[in-house]
Amino acid sequence: MSTTRRLFVCVKQKTEVGANVAKALRKELKKQGLRVLVTDGARQHVRVQTCSCLDLCEHCKKGPGAALIVYPEAVAYGNVRPADAAELVARHLGEGKVLRRLLLK
Ligand code: FES
Repeated sequence: MSTTRRLFVCVKQKTEVGANVAKALRKELKKQGLRVLVTDGARQHVRVQTCSCLDLCEHCKKGPGAALIVYPEAVAYGNVRPADAAELVARHLGEGKVLRRLLLK
């Protein structure tokens, strides 16, 4: 069975930053060979999408980065910049752990 993991990046308040974060995440997924994950024999495709408000607006206002949510686990990150993409992809999707320094509570 094939399922999909999705990373939704808010572009409502910071359109260019959000778009650049999404682009950097896609690039890293490809570079790190993580566009398709295999967990317990099941394939998961990983998609990155830009979206409107994620109801994390206070985190969009703070700092230079964007807010994003990873589904289906619904883990939210804030102030994510394009330079964070490699670490976020490696940690969250590669190792299956949260990236604490950007995690929203
Ligand atoms: S405007 Fe980005 S989460 Fe609401």
